[in-house]
Amino acid sequence: MNLPNFIEAKKREKRDYKTVSYEIDESIKGKYAGKKYFLKTYGCQMNEHDSENIEAMLVDLGFSKVDDYLDCDLCILNTCSIRENAHNKAFGMLGRLKHLKNEKKDLIIGLCGCMAQEESVVEEIMRDYKFVNFVFGTHNLDRLPEILDVAVESNKQQIEVLEKESDLVEGIPVLRTNSYKAYVNIIYGCDKFCTYCIVPYTRGSERSRKKEDILKEVRELVNDGYKEVTLLGQNVNAYGKDLYDDYTLGDLLEEIALMNIPRIRFMTSHPWDFTDKMIEVIGKYPNIMPSVHLPVQSGSSRVLKLMGRRYTRESYLELFDKIKKIVPGVSISTDIIVGFPGETEEDFNETLSLCEYCKYDNAFTFIFSERKGTPACKLKDNTTIKEKEERLYKLNEVVNKYFLENNKKLEGSVLKVLVEGNSSKSNMYYGYSETNKLINFTSNKDITIGDIVDVKIVSAKTWSLDGELVE
Ligand code: SAH
Ligand code: SF4
Ligand code: F3S
Repeated sequence: MNLPNFIEAKKREKRDYKTVSYEIDESIKGKYAGKKYFLKTYGCQMNEHDSENIEAMLVDLGFSKVDDYLDCDLCILNTCSIRENAHNKAFGMLGRLKHLKNEKKDLIIGLCGCMAQEESVVEEIMRDYKFVNFVFGTHNLDRLPEILDVAVESNKQQIEVLEKESDLVEGIPVLRTNSYKAYVNIIYGCDKFCTYCIVPYTRGSERSRKKEDILKEVRELVNDGYKEVTLLGQNVNAYGKDLYDDYTLGDLLEEIALMNIPRIRFMTSHPWDFTDKMIEVIGKYPNIMPSVHLPVQSGSSRVLKLMGRRYTRESYLELFDKIKKIVPGVSISTDIIVGFPGETEEDFNETLSLCEYCKYDNAFTFIFSERKGTPACKLKDNTTIKEKEERLYKLNEVVNKYFLENNKKLEGSVLKVLVEGNSSKSNMYYGYSETNKLINFTSNKDITIGDIVDVKIVSAKTWSLDGELVE
């Protein structure tokens, strides 16, 4: 049995990571034919993409998918640890699964993702959730088929979580959610250790995939007719630093832009490490979408220092202005935490004033959530939860005002939209603009999902725009 350990996970010694190929024991392929799986994914795009790998491995074993957990023979929870809320949701689901297992004795239950990397969670599962059949972590996703099979055959709880990242595994099968936009991992892990954040512990140290492997994957997607790729990492700007002397995200973006793919996105870009070369490349190539997610977290340099973000309010704004200037029509979105330990009313007002200046196109706002084992837990916190909720409310009022104001400016314009679906009303479609705005639009003719079409914007809402197809 392998258990996670935060102290070990924290040690960052530089070592060369090998790239190895995915392998599956041929004898278990198709073994579970006729059985049904239900997979629940919590958290970020990285987890969503891991789930695309998990689904492909399950299909290889013979499983087929069901959309209602009550109908499944196997249920896997791909969990997230980022805030207490995500954590509670997964445990709530485990509670429901316990009931189901009372009725369905053969039900197999697995848990993976970031919570599986937390020692306290694994201890709790071993102690109080003995009905969970297996647990595996973020560093050994590729081991799922074998771990699952051993759990079924032995009928004993299997826990296999590595506290440290192992080699980088290429060639894990993937079952993509759709046929026109795709996620591509470029870098795993995070070495930034922001004081509130659990990710560096649950996802391990920064490891870039080799550029050849990334370019090959994107080339295949282009050949398969994909319209959009999103390059993924907790810190895409750190791409290449651990592997190359002189090859960065700017270079990678440029090589991908020269392939015949209509839309390239990337996330998340930490303001630290956002180079001039990157900005220049984003501005230069029309198929790199003018949409940047630039999490600020706080508008107060004092709080940013406590958070360990390694930039100040001033240097963030300098970067923000530079991106706005060099990338025409760029939309910028952000993440903000209110109620970080020690945040005063004055600090919070600085966050508000920064938002008044930046007029973000989108913002994800959160109340600070204490994560066990992170340095921010030790900081003194005098702000009550009520005050924190009031701050969140005030902040949302400010950011929402600008979402609407920015959207209003688009009324009357024609935007390119990648069509993602149609709603129950047959002539209504939706999709995203180049700047990542949700567009609902009408069309008198049938449109193929995955096409890029011109839409005239008729009216603006806070979180979406309404329009009509330009024929
Ligand atoms: N790597 C990205 C962020 C990934 S986590 C970056 O640094 O930009 C997504 C967001 O969750 C963060 O930007 C932060 O706003 C929020 N978050 C992370 N830890 C949190 C915590 N302990 N409490 C509340 N929000 C948190
Ligand atoms: Fe967390 Fe900071 Fe890393 Fe983002 S950069 S994942 S917030 S530690
Ligand atoms: Fe959550 Fe892990 Fe992503 S903690 S946000 S699933 S990296």
